[in-house]
Amino acid sequence: MYSSRAASRSWTGLFLLISALCCLFSPSLMVKHENFKTCDQSGFCKRNRAYADNAAATSTSWTSPYTLDPQSLSLKDGQLTGIILKSIAKDAEPVRLPLTVSFLESGSARVTVDEEKRQKGDIVLRHDSKARKERYNEAGNWALVGGLELNKGAALSNQEEDGYTRVFYGKEGKQEAVIRHHPFGIEFKRNGETHVKFNDRGLLNMEHWRPKVEKPAEEKKEGEEENKEGEAEKKEENSEEKGEDEGTWWEESFGGNTDSKPRGPEAVALDISFPGYEHVFGIPEHATGLSLKETRGGDGKYSDPYRLYNSDVFEYELNSPMTLYGAIPFMQAHRKGSTVGVFWMNAAETWVDVVKAKSSPNPLSLGIKSHTDTQTHWISESGLLDVFVFLGPTPQDVIQSYGELTGFTAMPQSFAIAYHQCRWNYVSDEDVMDVDRKFDKHNIPYDVIWLDIEYTQEKKYFTWDPLTFVNPIKMQKQLDKRERKLVAIIDPHIKNTDNYNVIDDMKSKSLAVKNKDGNDYEGWCWPGSSYWVDCFNPAASAWWKTLFKYDKFKGSAPNTFIWNDMNEPSVFNGPETTMPKDNLHHGNWEHRDVHNLNGMTFHNATYNAILERKKGEVRRPFVLTRSFYSGSQRSAAMWTGDNLAEWSHLEASIPMVLNQGISGFPFAGADVGGFFGNPSKELLTRWYQAGIYYPFFRGHAHIDTRRREPYLAGSPYTEIITQALRLRYQLLPVWYTAFHEAHTTGAPIIRPNYYVHPDDERGFSVDDQLYIGSTGLLAKPVTKEGTDSVSIYIADDQPYFDYFDYTIYQGAGHHTVPAPLEKIPLLMQGGHIIPRRDRPRRSSGLMKFDPFTLVVVLGKDGNAEGSLYLDDGETFDYQSGAYIHRRFSFDKATNSLTSINIGTKGPKTDAYLKLMKNVRVEKVIVVGALEIWKGKTEVTVSEEGSKESARRRKAAFEYHEGEKGKANWAVVRDPKVGVGRGWKVDFSG
Ligand SMILES: *[C@@H]1O[C@H](CO)[C@@H](O)[C@H](O)[C@H]1NC(C)=O
Repeated sequence: MYSSRAASRSWTGLFLLISALCCLFSPSLMVKHENFKTCDQSGFCKRNRAYADNAAATSTSWTSPYTLDPQSLSLKDGQLTGIILKSIAKDAEPVRLPLTVSFLESGSARVTVDEEKRQKGDIVLRHDSKARKERYNEAGNWALVGGLELNKGAALSNQEEDGYTRVFYGKEGKQEAVIRHHPFGIEFKRNGETHVKFNDRGLLNMEHWRPKVEKPAEEKKEGEEENKEGEAEKKEENSEEKGEDEGTWWEESFGGNTDSKPRGPEAVALDISFPGYEHVFGIPEHATGLSLKETRGGDGKYSDPYRLYNSDVFEYELNSPMTLYGAIPFMQAHRKGSTVGVFWMNAAETWVDVVKAKSSPNPLSLGIKSHTDTQTHWISESGLLDVFVFLGPTPQDVIQSYGELTGFTAMPQSFAIAYHQCRWNYVSDEDVMDVDRKFDKHNIPYDVIWLDIEYTQEKKYFTWDPLTFVNPIKMQKQLDKRERKLVAIIDPHIKNTDNYNVIDDMKSKSLAVKNKDGNDYEGWCWPGSSYWVDCFNPAASAWWKTLFKYDKFKGSAPNTFIWNDMNEPSVFNGPETTMPKDNLHHGNWEHRDVHNLNGMTFHNATYNAILERKKGEVRRPFVLTRSFYSGSQRSAAMWTGDNLAEWSHLEASIPMVLNQGISGFPFAGADVGGFFGNPSKELLTRWYQAGIYYPFFRGHAHIDTRRREPYLAGSPYTEIITQALRLRYQLLPVWYTAFHEAHTTGAPIIRPNYYVHPDDERGFSVDDQLYIGSTGLLAKPVTKEGTDSVSIYIADDQPYFDYFDYTIYQGAGHHTVPAPLEKIPLLMQGGHIIPRRDRPRRSSGLMKFDPFTLVVVLGKDGNAEGSLYLDDGETFDYQSGAYIHRRFSFDKATNSLTSINIGTKGPKTDAYLKLMKNVRVEKVIVVGALEIWKGKTEVTVSEEGSKESARRRKAAFEYHEGEKGKANWAVVRDPKVGVGRGWKVDFSG
């Protein structure tokens, strides 16, 4: 939510003055590049890029120095093990690198490479460091929750091939790993075709442990010529890698901070190529388009790799590979007919280069077109080489396989997918209650109001400012009248001050992150001097839970939920605004090893705390996090951090949120309105119209901005924003059903074109429009000033209908759709049934028992299908069957609409059905209504389980002819069928 700018405020008034002046004179805010490393300033990145350049420059003579020892290989129960030997100097023993290739039941493969010497602890750390000696090998403990069952049927090929080992694995053995011994490399094949290659370019590089050789001081005194020669000689003798730049091996400084690097160089790098694949997606979080651009310079390309090093990047810049707050090292490669992927499970600072290589057609082989290979180069500072390979073949297959490993998104409470109103800050409990009343007065729906850091007493979490938040319980009671919630911020930095039981506890129990000497690490954040809770420590997470009990966090209530910010962690005076890499976490792992996991351990601890606030009160927690890693989806929602109130940031938010969706963490959104700066009313309105498509939908604003609650915009803006909010609320059943699908299959909640139409090459890089769940709803948010129409790309030949007036758009290609300010461009793809709740309410909680409207959108074959998932939106009873899951189908052949159960009965099913027995379908709208219905005035309705007399009854029917360009449509008035029951509406009778 904020920035070091505000932080510096507490440091020096002068700085504030300067930044205020800067803001006055430069309309556009800017990221401070000098605060963050480029690849060139990050020793291991620079070294590995140089390694790649050297390999490319000497491509004919270059051989990767890694060889698999064939004698060492064995395959047992789905796991291939062996030793890779890295040759270093002529006479030196090669470095032994244990290799494990695990073939998984899911059809995925996992390749792990360790380093024997470090594994055995057979190394010496510098500076008497207490750090662990091994390469970090616990990322899986935090990131993985399943999917690791071994494919015992994996088998070696019975044909001997010199220099290769071939393993068949996966369903029906259709997948193959072809392992080359010299140099070591792997090709992953599906149905005989290679899709993923490891070390094809020879960039595998595991920086092995070596002792630092101090150069004798007297050499320096000798003549220059001699000296140079002497050093060159020494280099050859001591460090086998000739010509390698040792400058960043032992120590690295940046921005006045020095990293002591007790283990020396330890980077791990590998090239992964996707032959025939032109597009790669994923590896959030970056402010980039969906289809990732190349990174090694050239026209319109980036010159730095994509960086993954969770950071508090203040006023971040768009169209940049710079790191942001979270990291998911999961990438998909996509081409017509195939999607594959890799998950690089490493939590250290990571850089990913992407280049595309065009292969020209061979003039002699007619019919073979030129194709593009995407080549990637993954570089991490430390840890194991640990990579999962997914062979698809569909986008959903890859995303689901990744989700089976790292978990699917948690099922949210229903309020959490409604509208959130936030600001830094609502200044008092009276202010909160006033905003709450004003929403009601203007009939604007909202569910949650948020408190940023100012609610606390002097930035001490778990306290309230006694002057401004006098009666938080009364405030929350008022919110609860409309089933509304409060979200309060709690960050991981704990104020280092007297008379504060939280810091006292943390110190006495030794639960804080330690500095390199093993003492509690002290740094600066919002409260000034602070310590950081170390949630890698199970004792710290257990203690963290106790702080949220209602009698501990006094003033919190059952409708209080939590926002975890600054958990990268943000440290104002630390290197790159975070912790020193040589800090120590639980188990003496260096911060370097675990940095990208840090935020997740914290929000997970908060999730567990909310779960257990009170014995017997078991409800789904809601936690928002800024920092994240693979697995964060299991316990939090995320937002894209500190964006700007500019059109460009509105535009950039769509691909960013889409990217979260295809990367396994779909509960995502951007600050509506833009965090920094004051949006024009037009921008604010358009941002709400776009924000209704973020799975996580929150308006937020910086403390220096003017108030911008929707009711303040004035006519016509307030009315238009209210219409947008109502549309979100009307479609909450669609969103909830999409969340359920994400929760059970990993499917994205909002979906890019390539995911929905994986064979439509023209649409692979389309990232400015989205489909909502499986509903066929296709939205194109307006992201340009002064727009009155948008161009929507349609990939298929289904009819698409305007959501509001049923105008028909049909035919693959671009279609112009009107979009004056009051109009939200939203189409319905033919072939779907969309469940809605049409009664406007003030909060989602008040809609719980509202009736449904079904919109049947007939496809070109005259059929349509859709689904609805429904539960209490609050507890975990759905896990015991307390839910409704229906499939609706319209079948042209039988001329009828049916609802069938697709749920599984559990112990709590009947009770829930009973609770919902009066919730009915009150209206059926058919878009693209069949001509044969013309003149019809009633239809026949039958319902299972109803009384004999009621079993077949009539319902009123109206048929409307569409005006020019618009679809015919029909309405069934109040068929009175239960939403939880089986029923049929017969249009022929
Ligand atoms: C989350 O918390 C659970 C329960 O304490 C723990 O088992 C798990 O390892 C934690 N996961 C992460 C990612 O912190």
